[in-house]
Amino acid sequence: MRIGVLGSGQVGQALGRGWARHGHDLVLGTGDPQRTQLQEWAGETGAQVAGFANAARHGELVALALLGTATLDVLDQVGPDAFAGKVVVDATNPLTFEGSRPGLFVGHTDSLGEQVQRAVPDARVVKAYNTVGNALMVDPQLPGGPPTMFLAGDDDEAKQTVVDLLAATGWDSADLGDISAARELEAMCLAWVKYGARTGTWNHAFRLLRADR
Ligand SMILES: NC(=O)c1ccc[n+]([C@@H]2O[C@H](COP(=O)([O-])OP(=O)(O)OC[C@H]3O[C@@H](n4cnc5c(N)ncnc54)[C@H](OP(=O)(O)O)[C@@H]3O)[C@@H](O)[C@H]2O)c1
Repeated sequence: MRIGVLGSGQVGQALGRGWARHGHDLVLGTGDPQRTQLQEWAGETGAQVAGFANAARHGELVALALLGTATLDVLDQVGPDAFAGKVVVDATNPLTFEGSRPGLFVGHTDSLGEQVQRAVPDARVVKAYNTVGNALMVDPQLPGGPPTMFLAGDDDEAKQTVVDLLAATGWDSADLGDISAARELEAMCLAWVKYGARTGTWNHAFRLLRADR
């Protein structure tokens, strides 16, 4: 698959490296494509590095790995046409770090996932990858078996594409419904962060256990 990943932080590089290793034609999008570390990263991974707009245009699937507060600005900068008809995997979280615990700058009655869908109305947004740390995003190896990626989105075919990508990279998945379930997914991120902060460990992932399997 042709994949564009927007954002070159820990998440962008983890998804980009992992998906390139699985043979996908990957372009990592960044505000600074000439950065030496990114050029070295491209050499190591076989992926390309480009500006946000070129990475978005490249992907049949485009993943958002952007700072929560910058996400809508980058979508606006690229323009909605670059995302039209595409599967857009939204891995972002609307995190704030004021005071002693992380919070969300949107929640309960709206979510960043819904804001993303409204910003790129012709894209098929799937909220996923926001409830786990970047180290486990592709090919997690955990003693308890495959963890569960919770996801949400309005388009069933787009969600199936993401479920297939997840299954090929070591994940079970659980569909929470339409994109408004990004409200629950973004809140789940806080539980993931809280456990990490309490234990000082960051290699945990959620797993859904079902009696009907
Ligand atoms: N870290 C994790 O393990 C983890 C896990 C699950 C979800 N998330 C979520 O995934 C997203 C990415 O997290 P991250 O830890 O990789 O990195 P991050 O520090 O949140 O930032 C990621 C990228 O956002 C872009 N960015 C930051 N400020 C910007 C601005 N003012 N204007 C335009 N672009 C800007 C930058 O892109 P360039 O540097 O390429 O220009 C940066 O590399 C976040 O929303 C985070 O909450 C993180």
